[in-house]
Amino acid sequence: MKNIVLTGFMGTGKTEVSKILAERFKKQRLCLDDMIEWKVGKPIPEIFEQDGEAYFRKLESEMVATASKDKDVIIDAGGGAIINEINFKRLKEHGIIFCLTASVNTILKRTKHYTHRPLLNAVDPNKRISELLEQRQKFYQKADYTIDTTYLTPEEVADKIIKQMESLEKEQKTTQALFT
Ligand code: S3P
Repeated sequence: MKNIVLTGFMGTGKTEVSKILAERFKKQRLCLDDMIEWKVGKPIPEIFEQDGEAYFRKLESEMVATASKDKDVIIDAGGGAIINEINFKRLKEHGIIFCLTASVNTILKRTKHYTHRPLLNAVDPNKRISELLEQRQKFYQKADYTIDTTYLTPEEVADKIIKQMESLEKEQKTTQALFT
């Protein structure tokens, strides 16, 4: 099976959904943010604060390069990973990319009680989310599939991904049978 790559804005459910998928498919889950934190030995807000966003993005690209070489894994890519063209290409090479979305209000509701996302620690988080979403839309649109999670539970999102993967696998088997 190809890698399942989850991307999309902060608060759209990537972490929870990727954990459910790893459990259901009995596959390894690679979380780029965790890999970055393990590598440098400090949490993401500290990396942003002490070393800056550019350094974080450099680490993120290194982790994409490592994780995308793996096969048959579930990759939880941070919400900013695929805005870099090279990262996108690498993740796509062995993976099917699912972009999770949600309404601005939902993102706000899901993220407002947490402080571990430096990009959202703004005076007006609502405005910040809308601006970032607008900037990123053209990158998120390049994903293979988009799932709006606004009214779905993480289990329901995972079910949709599983169904999609199963139908892709079926298609692949039919094509193989036709050409052998
Ligand atoms: C970021 C998303 C975060 C984390 C970092 C930057 C982004 O991950 O990588 O704070 O640029 O969207 P989650 O999307 O898992 O919250």
